[in-house]
Amino acid sequence: MEFFLDTANTADIEQYKDLIAGVTTNPSLIAREGRDFKTVVKEITNLVPGPISAEVTATTAPEMIAQAHELVKLAPNVVIKIPMTVEGLKAVKQLHAENINTNVTLIFSLSQGLLAASAGATYISPFIGRLDDIGADGTKLIQELRQGLDNAKVSTKIIAASIRSVKHVEKVALAGADIATIPTAVFSKLFEHPLTEKGLAAFMQDWDNFKEKR
Ligand code: E4P
Repeated sequence: MEFFLDTANTADIEQYKDLIAGVTTNPSLIAREGRDFKTVVKEITNLVPGPISAEVTATTAPEMIAQAHELVKLAPNVVIKIPMTVEGLKAVKQLHAENINTNVTLIFSLSQGLLAASAGATYISPFIGRLDDIGADGTKLIQELRQGLDNAKVSTKIIAASIRSVKHVEKVALAGADIATIPTAVFSKLFEHPLTEKGLAAFMQDWDNFKEKR
């Protein structure tokens, strides 16, 4: 499974850019930064060579397609993030025909994922945390999508999104996600384990004692 950062914060991306394969943003994350949308997306594409998802904000297919055409001018690694609506999938179909990569967002069911894949989505983003929030099972959706996409023999990749914890990351990896897009606060925790810290401290102490005796 590949690791993406789910953030529009360029300082966070700078810190982890060598360890991630891509970045996803959404209008809420961009708004949180309080900066110009295209400037932020452009900066991110300069930091990370992998896929960078930038979301359209229009509601009709022609308007979404027009926004997509503007966004792909920013850099070759821009992926157009499109909401899971009828109009959104019409836009995905057209962009697919133009060889423009898309990421269909706000996926909450197997049927939505299969429809997006059938329209030619490069990526689909099931939101597992928001499903868990309402008492549903986000990890189960990843398992179902994995099986559904494999049965359909399509190359659409599953980006497990709306990740809330280290456990979520581990569960979606085992459930068959191709990618997990992870907020920085969770990503930083993936590196940690109390026994790693304890073991390293002991190694350092033993090494210092050994050096002092020589
Ligand atoms: C995914 O692409 C979205 O940006 C994100 O994962 C949504 O997460 P949230 O439910 O924490 O807002």
